[in-house]
Amino acid sequence: YTEEHIRPRRLQDYIGQPVVREQMEIFIHAARHRGEALDHVLIFGPPGLGKTTLSHIIAHEMGANLRQTSGPVLEKAGDLAALLTNLEPHDVLFIDEIHRLSPMVEEILYPALEDFQLDIMIGEGPAARSIKLDLPPFTLVGATTRAGLLTSPLRDRFGIVQRLEFYNIDDLAYIVQRASGIIGARIDGGGAQEIARRSRGTPRIANRLLRRVRDYVQVKGTGLIDSEMADKALNMLNVDNQGFDHMDRRLLLAVMEKFDGGPVGVDSLAAAIGEERGTIEDVLEPFLIQQGFLMRTPRGRVATRRAWQHFGLNIPSRLNLSN
Ligand code: ADE
Repeated sequence: YTEEHIRPRRLQDYIGQPVVREQMEIFIHAARHRGEALDHVLIFGPPGLGKTTLSHIIAHEMGANLRQTSGPVLEKAGDLAALLTNLEPHDVLFIDEIHRLSPMVEEILYPALEDFQLDIMIGEGPAARSIKLDLPPFTLVGATTRAGLLTSPLRDRFGIVQRLEFYNIDDLAYIVQRASGIIGARIDGGGAQEIARRSRGTPRIANRLLRRVRDYVQVKGTGLIDSEMADKALNMLNVDNQGFDHMDRRLLLAVMEKFDGGPVGVDSLAAAIGEERGTIEDVLEPFLIQQGFLMRTPRGRVATRRAWQHFGLNIPSRLNLSN
């Protein structure tokens, strides 16, 4: 069983994200009723929250094909042209990491999105010619970790913009139960809650931890995942009681121990923990900020009172951290 098998195919099986779900239900229903392609959709949010899953669901609910690619893969204008000219009416083209499109590819995307027209140059020098092709009406679904990474002309061409949020524990527990049913793992309610609680609000992490916890109980237990065995397995996996992994702890500890709690600029932090700035901003920080362990201030990142307490460290009195 891979991610493919666990992924929901219908909007009604898509758990959590109530705002996204309600809006998409209406927009898809309306487009289908009018016999039109769905408007272009931009999905943004931290990795693992279901951007790809949602694009599959959109295609499925529209009764259309899904074509899947990513920003860095589309190197030349011709790469995108080949995809666009093979679409059928109402198909969904999913471009992951759409903020990483080259300017030349982005340039030919604009008329394709706006007028379903392909404008490409063929040949070079005096023999160069521009050709225009009509495209079938299609839906671009673009995914990115942060909407702010897109150029504004590209962002402006999406009629539907959805932001995915971290999942709450009950929704994640339900996702874990559902995935357990599909892969045939034995789990009780407490076990699902414990995995959910320690999955950084992220279904992809929950599903990965589920597999590892299942391995653990198969070897060290009876094969049933209950809260006690889940706790033991997650401790062994170095996932702490808050769901923080090694890199989360490294980042928080660096802010506190190397930079006296901050404020520290993200580049200094990146150098201190040997992680890329983009990974810190897109993968690590969003959850730490959402959980109230880290703050972004104009002068840099600051560890909160919660962070000091989580690691059992004394808060330097000069910090004067409220609550
Ligand atoms: N697997 C990953 N994301 C999911 C979601 N939102 N609902 C159900 N299963 C999922």
